[in-house]
Amino acid sequence: MSETLLLVGLQWGDEGKGKVIDALSSRFEIVARFQGGANAGHTVQIGDEKFILHLVPSGILHPGTLCVVGNGVVADPGGLLDEIDALRERGVEVGENLAVSDRAHVVMPHHKVMDRASESELGEGKIGTTGRGIGPCYADKAARCGIRFAEMLQPRVFRSRLDALMDLKNRILVEIYGREPLDTDAIYEEYCGYAERLRPFVRDTVAILHDALRQGRSILLEGAQGSLLDLNFGTYPYVTSSAVVAGGAPVGTGIPPGRINRVLGVAKSYCTRVGEGPFPTEQANEAGALMRERGNEYGSTTGRPRRCGWLDGVALRHTTALNGVDALSVGLLDVLSAFETINVCTGYRVDGRTLEQFPASLETLGAVEPVYEQFPGWQSDITEATEWEHLPAPARNYLEAIERIAGAPVQFVSVGPERNQLIERKADD
Ligand code: IMP
Repeated sequence: MSETLLLVGLQWGDEGKGKVIDALSSRFEIVARFQGGANAGHTVQIGDEKFILHLVPSGILHPGTLCVVGNGVVADPGGLLDEIDALRERGVEVGENLAVSDRAHVVMPHHKVMDRASESELGEGKIGTTGRGIGPCYADKAARCGIRFAEMLQPRVFRSRLDALMDLKNRILVEIYGREPLDTDAIYEEYCGYAERLRPFVRDTVAILHDALRQGRSILLEGAQGSLLDLNFGTYPYVTSSAVVAGGAPVGTGIPPGRINRVLGVAKSYCTRVGEGPFPTEQANEAGALMRERGNEYGSTTGRPRRCGWLDGVALRHTTALNGVDALSVGLLDVLSAFETINVCTGYRVDGRTLEQFPASLETLGAVEPVYEQFPGWQSDITEATEWEHLPAPARNYLEAIERIAGAPVQFVSVGPERNQLIERKADD
């Protein structure tokens, strides 16, 4: 049956979306990214081989799947080519199976310089970005001075857009940030080189996706980052600069909202965050260190150690509702096998009151005291479990509690990094 499934992260990113997308890719003819850029790092482990994909949709590892980089993505052309080359070197076919939207915005050198410069200006108050130029590129897009792939492929148009843009950006770099100006001629040459190599991939992806819908082909929409990093609903300003939640998918692909049939929300069985910003259930202690070690919680894009903590049920309920999640995928359950007792935050206490809702104010969020519900651990190896009933009763009990708290059923459970360590729950489980 033709289906458009949207997969979104429900926490602060790094929920293990790459693995679920990889598992589902064989069921879909098309896999499309709709937001973000090379700030993402989707890890897929196949046997001894580990693939980390930043811009290319994870579906590329399945021969025959068409991968689309949608119009809502901001793509660094040099990074994209490096990723294509690295995949080819490892025997992965990348050719007609990859289409990059002509409306996607191009990450330019000044975006990366400004990303880092503004972080260093912010000092203690920095966002903790990935330094990939994502925020400045989306800022240029919103300010209507960005360059899209469509423009980059037309040398004369590109040159005039670039001249106007760099005239302004170099003044900002020199006069505001005290940096060296960038060489516009060199950027032009470099990017024209990228344009020639990327030309075969740049297509009208809106038309491709609309044709696919007409032909009844199945589409998987691959979200990057997590809903708590969403520009509108996340922990602003400690967020990324795109619409991460389900609502971003129609805008970032051109697929009408009514054509999206199902939303799968991906969460970890605990929480992690990289970068700055409040994190009420953070465990900056032995428990957090154990989660980090067992879950190998280091950023796949920047290598930064991730902050770890218990599952935040208040935040999860908020993001499940925001995304209209139909089913959940709960990842890294095996990481919790080491704990005698597992905590889940089910309410926030602040000023003697219990907050039921996720607050907009970061001051409030930073001040809340989590109210924990405790669950007995299972303290046994679950990494070989392939069926729901193989899981020990306390593990199933924990998953059922997550369903109640989040308000959506658990469909997938991941019990290890390998492709096959994913349990799909049957209707009668
Ligand atoms: P930016 O997206 O590089 O601007 O970073 C903004 C915030 O989002 C920072 O806290 C980053 O650590 C976070 N972030 C961006 N991409 C990811 C991701 O793929 N996983 C987890 N955090 C991310």
